[in-house]
Amino acid sequence: MTGEAPASLPHTTTRLSRRNDRGVVTHQALLRDGTPVTVRRLEPADSTVLERFAAGLSFESWRLRFHGVTRTSGEALTGGVGGRPTVAVINGEIVGVATYVPLMEPDRAEMAVAVADDAQGLGLGTVLFEAVTSSSPCSA
Ligand SMILES: CC(C)(COP(=O)(O)OP(=O)(O)OC[C@H]1O[C@@H](n2cnc3c(N)ncnc32)[C@H](O)[C@@H]1OP(=O)(O)O)[C@@H](O)C(=O)NCCC(=O)NCCS
Repeated sequence: MTGEAPASLPHTTTRLSRRNDRGVVTHQALLRDGTPVTVRRLEPADSTVLERFAAGLSFESWRLRFHGVTRTSGEALTGGVGGRPTVAVINGEIVGVATYVPLMEPDRAEMAVAVADDAQGLGLGTVLFEAVTSSSPCSA
């Protein structure tokens, strides 16, 4: 992530969506600094980049994500069964992971987000939050 984030430029999530070559629906967004990001569900082929993302997260981000649990593997970031993991990707690298786990009570869910330390503060957490809580195919 490079450059200063202009305060006047909010993140935007476009309505443009397309399918990648594996048929997965992807959404495009722009971060506050203008960096384009792709948001889509986690794919099996992401395991290596997911582990790289997990390894790059600071201990502080791990602590905040898991409320005190120490660093583990990328798998932990995917929310387990039913976690509906959604990822943000820049230049082929995962820079954020959000999960959305519906609870037993109707209309209730537990969600969690982790954004790469050097991408925090640019609107990516908001973009991921919107993606997993919307009715877009990303969260299905
Ligand atoms: C929390 C986190 C997901 C936010 O992602 P982000 O891309 O940095 O957030 P955004 O740029 O979209 O900012 C969204 C808002 O959250 C606020 N925010 C970000 N991190 C925050 C924190 N740790 N505490 C309180 N507010 C925070 C921002 O100030 C911003 O508020 P604003 O819109 O009024 O300016 C990210 O900082 C992160 O991954 N942190 C480590 C893991 C974590 O804490 N996860 C949340 C618990 S599951």
